Amino acid sequence: MIVIKIGGSVVDGLHQTTMADLKKISETSKVVIVHGGGKEVTITANKLGKTQGFVVSPGGVRSRYTDKETVEIYTMVMAGKLNKSIVRMLVRHGINAAGITGIDGGVLKADRKKKLVIMNDRGRKMVIDGGYTGKINSVDPSLITVLLEKEYVPVIAPVALSEEYDFLNVDGDRAAAYVAGALKASKVIFITNVSGLSLNDSLITHITLEEAKEVLPRIGFGMEKKVLAAIEALQMGVDEAVIASGQTEMPFSKAIAHDNCTVITQN
Ligand SMILES: Nc1ncnc2c1ncn2[C@@H]1O[C@H](COP(=O)(O)OP(=O)(O)O)[C@@H](O)[C@H]1O
Ligand SMILES: [Mg+2]
Repeated sequence: MIVIKIGGSVVDGLHQTTMADLKKISETSKVVIVHGGGKEVTITANKLGKTQGFVVSPGGVRSRYTDKETVEIYTMVMAGKLNKSIVRMLVRHGINAAGITGIDGGVLKADRKKKLVIMNDRGRKMVIDGGYTGKINSVDPSLITVLLEKEYVPVIAPVALSEEYDFLNVDGDRAAAYVAGALKASKVIFITNVSGLSLNDSLITHITLEEAKEVLPRIGFGMEKKVLAAIEALQMGVDEAVIASGQTEMPFSKAIAHDNCTVITQN
């Protein structure tokens, strides 16, 4: 079983061989797709006249601030336009895909962040209401398993359910990690717009879980979430995490063959 995260940064820029490659992979292995799409959410929010706020954590991690209206737009775009565009792309290429969110079948449950510590414009720490972002606390893979048994490729949008049944914005990379962990997948592959993790301008082709933890604070915005998600997936028992580009020929086959990508393993 392979869980693939497709980044919002790459959905429109996938190499033309990507779908044929996915079809090939899905004929020999069970495949689950999780997608992102932050930029599309920002574009739609702007069209609706809703300016998106971003916050920076004391650790320097920048993320979207999700208030009530924003999580509604987030859900519309993720569950609607993006999820269905990806499913359509797969179906068009003869892959029997079915799109769901973390809400469907109660697949993704998350804790709403009640309070958020952020850095204000003057570099001071500040506590604000957490808004509608969440950290996944459990995955119920039943619906995913049913789809897989019926030979569907599940395509999952990263919208989760809070304890109070709110829609929550959850990170797509980490959602993929948790889904991979819950399904006891052998691999989780993060397909993005760069070949993998670079440090000091060179591509890291292989690192261990322990090394990944050490370098995490030195990784920039975007990639740090993937490495964090890879660490979480490995800690949940997934054998291998791969970060690879979706802009090269046969991206999944290449990632599985460890060709020009970053591989993170237990040892
Ligand atoms: N050390 C790093 N190595 C590689 N990419 C990095 C690094 N630090 C930051 N990045 C950025 O992370 C981006 C990938 O993350 P992101 O833009 O969130 O893509 P996705 O939509 O696939 O999640 C890259 O395009 C790159 O600009
Ligand atoms: Mg990202």
